[in-house]
Amino acid sequence: MSAVVIKNVSRIFPGVRGGVPTKALTPINVSVAENDFVTILGPSGCGKSTLLRIVAGLEEPTTGSVTVRGRTVTGPGADRGMVFQSYTLFPWLTVAQNIAFGLREKKMSKGERDAIVADYVSKVGLTGFEEHWPKQLSGGMQQRVAIARALANDPAILLLDEPFGALDNQTRGLMQELLLTIWEAERKTVLFVTHDIEEAIFLGSRCLVMTARPGRIKADVQIPLAHPRHYRMKAEPDFLELKMRLTEEIREEAKKVA
Ligand SMILES: Nc1ncnc2c1ncn2[C@@H]1O[C@H](COP(=O)(O)OP(=O)(O)O)[C@@H](O)[C@H]1O
Ligand SMILES: [Mg+2]
Repeated sequence: MSAVVIKNVSRIFPGVRGGVPTKALTPINVSVAENDFVTILGPSGCGKSTLLRIVAGLEEPTTGSVTVRGRTVTGPGADRGMVFQSYTLFPWLTVAQNIAFGLREKKMSKGERDAIVADYVSKVGLTGFEEHWPKQLSGGMQQRVAIARALANDPAILLLDEPFGALDNQTRGLMQELLLTIWEAERKTVLFVTHDIEEAIFLGSRCLVMTARPGRIKADVQIPLAHPRHYRMKAEPDFLELKMRLTEEIREEAKKVA
């Protein structure tokens, strides 16, 4: 069974104060296999966030439907964990409490909860920061907490919307490697939205390229790079060839909106 099936999904936003409606997505059809790491690449404003929010159940499609492991999405659910671009930690909770947030809803003993939190604190490299407040952390550290919070609930599918978009290049590279290390160990199904070509190749096993708005999938590209991946691969010929191919696809689209 596919992890996610996006069937005929389109989205039109009503016009503001009688203005013309915004056609954000034209019908999209995609099947995502279990344990795949799919990157969704497209120019700014093409509908990437809209598509991901529809999969998350935060937004309704105008036509079509999404099924997750055979069940139609009607709203958010614990089977999908989401990480956003902007920092969305609860400022009144510590690092450990943020990560435990979803677990508190489940009927789980404190001992079990603490063990899961400790595991993810360590996986995202935040040991020693458990009692810190979000405002005491750098942007990269905050996103590591957000990733740990999403993973702690053990979702089948991880949805990430430009999670490293606000980070400096150095931190971004390290975060990409961290996310890959976690994925290589846990093999969650991942949908990762980005407008960064290199990021889409480095992380993904498959890259869906979207057109300018109204977005649709214009290319579906396999990324046959071996795992584990290392940043040095970004300079290797097969990586550069993929980068050139995707750059050409994206350039055509970016020209339409520039
Ligand atoms: N809630 C909304 N109401 C009206 N228009 C929206 C809304 N959300 C997004 N849009 C429009 O839909 C288009 C796609 O937006 P978005 O999915 O955020 O693109 P991306 O994430 O690729 O940058 C944009 O033109 C945006 O202005
Ligand atoms: Mg977006």
